[in-house]
Amino acid sequence: MLGPLAGRRVLELGCGTGRYAAHLAHHHHAHVTGVESSPAQYQRAVCSYSSIPGLTLVRADAVDYLQQADPYDVIISIHGALCYTPPHLLLPGIFIALRPGGLLAASVLHTNYLGDGPSETVEPSPQRLQITGQAPATVYRWVLTPMAMKVDPRATCRSV
Ligand SMILES: C[S@@+](CC[C@H](N)C(=O)[O-])C[C@H]1O[C@@H](n2cnc3c(N)ncnc32)[C@H](O)[C@@H]1O
Repeated sequence: MLGPLAGRRVLELGCGTGRYAAHLAHHHHAHVTGVESSPAQYQRAVCSYSSIPGLTLVRADAVDYLQQADPYDVIISIHGALCYTPPHLLLPGIFIALRPGGLLAASVLHTNYLGDGPSETVEPSPQRLQITGQAPATVYRWVLTPMAMKVDPRATCRSV
């Protein structure tokens, strides 16, 4: 789906423990930057994968990082920053950081714990997290239909 990646610049927004960024650098020979805002997740990624050639791990918020990023050929978010960050903050930065003709590929969980699918309005939806030994926590995710992203005048969106 991402096409040939050898020698291409790839950015993962919200790389967590770094497993996908590491895979693309190691097995597909891409120049990959993994950006992660959580100190604990970033530390896990560094401990596991920092020696992989072609992989750079950055602890930063995706919105901040995109302000100063050199252009990328491919930007990905695997249940990552695109899911958890207001689109009117993140999408303009992605638009600037993606070279012309570049590819944005993102995955989000389609349905939340209530069975609700993607929102047709630009609103976040709740997701229940059950963490062992703790009370359930609620996080809010931006899971939108493509049409919802296009009609919001604050968002910049193009599809490929
Ligand atoms: C569900 S995890 C997925 C991690 C990884 N992509 C994977 O699939 O293993 C989502 C990650 O995105 C990170 N994240 C969310 N919003 C972010 C943002 N605005 N900037 C950087 N990281 C972010 C979270 O800290 C978390 O580690």
